[in-house]
Amino acid sequence: MSAQIEKAAALLRQGELVAFPTETVYGLGADAANPAAVAKIFAAKGRPSDHPLIVHIPGVEHLDRWARKIPETAFALAKAFWPGPLTLILKRQPDVSDAVTGGQDTVGLRVPGHPLALELLKAFGGGVAAPSANRFGHVSPTAAQHVHDELGNAVSMVLDGGPCRVGIESTIVDLTGPQSRILRPGMISAVDLGRVLGRLPGTGDDAVPRAPGSLESHYAPRTPLALLQPDVVIFAVREALAANRRIGVIAPMACPLSDERIVWREIAGDHVGFAHDIYALLRELDSLDCMRIVVQTPPQSDNWRAINDRLRRAVAGIEK
Ligand code: TXA
Ligand code: MG
Repeated sequence: MSAQIEKAAALLRQGELVAFPTETVYGLGADAANPAAVAKIFAAKGRPSDHPLIVHIPGVEHLDRWARKIPETAFALAKAFWPGPLTLILKRQPDVSDAVTGGQDTVGLRVPGHPLALELLKAFGGGVAAPSANRFGHVSPTAAQHVHDELGNAVSMVLDGGPCRVGIESTIVDLTGPQSRILRPGMISAVDLGRVLGRLPGTGDDAVPRAPGSLESHYAPRTPLALLQPDVVIFAVREALAANRRIGVIAPMACPLSDERIVWREIAGDHVGFAHDIYALLRELDSLDCMRIVVQTPPQSDNWRAINDRLRRAVAGIEK
């Protein structure tokens, strides 16, 4: 084990916060069994304390320390997708603290698919409660530098595992009801889950929004953001130039105009590549004092569902 991992695990044992990479986004971790440590997460993020956190565990064999009445579907999904970008909502064990669950009788659990995260969890030997390591309502961090920019000294240590492979937050599926339900779409899709479950999960659309990610104000940059169809992107660019302002554009093609006020970032045209880069690009363009940021509307097919979900919320967050 590296000295760095040992130090991070020791800090967690002492009740300190450690930010760490996962395959989705960076997490802000605390010992899930220590309510005082978990309280520090809410203070650092500026997040309301009734919002539940995901408990990250080193392996499926830790499930019953946190959850009870675990259905077979949980083990089937864990076998298929863990370590990986899937969070399971299960009935909680009675001793799981309200600080973690937001006072609900359920708990969110996941085994992250990143080597550093797994090393840390194994060295620590317990559950690590971790939301995304951004301030409440901001874009999730996908690189260690983003965490430093967001949280500065509020965190004792940031483990640097490079850029996150997936780039958007895990799929959350609720297994506590009669039918499994997706509460937050992610890169593991309803169809992927349905293959293992034998039937498609429901979507959370009709549900009370228990996940803060389902509040419209989330994932937002500060600069006004617009999602525009390909044929109107150029009109937004012309409008900014007419106002002599800088404009940021994220689109899957090269910039058709040459003007230093246009900050054009070409993004991948496939959903995997797009998810990988979108948060870092939004963050970069948000720091440049643009009149607005324009993202060319991605395809609406099932593969793009989670990406469209995050973009729609980012737009709503600043227009509300
Ligand atoms: O990919 C991810 O899930 C990342 C990495 C760090 O693991 N984490 C993440 O955490 O996105 P956070 O706190 O930003 O979002 C976790 C979501 C929240 O929307 C929270 O409400 C939901 O999980 N959640 C956690 N426990 C829950 C529960 N018991 N019932 C319903 N939703 C729950
Ligand atoms: Mg978050």
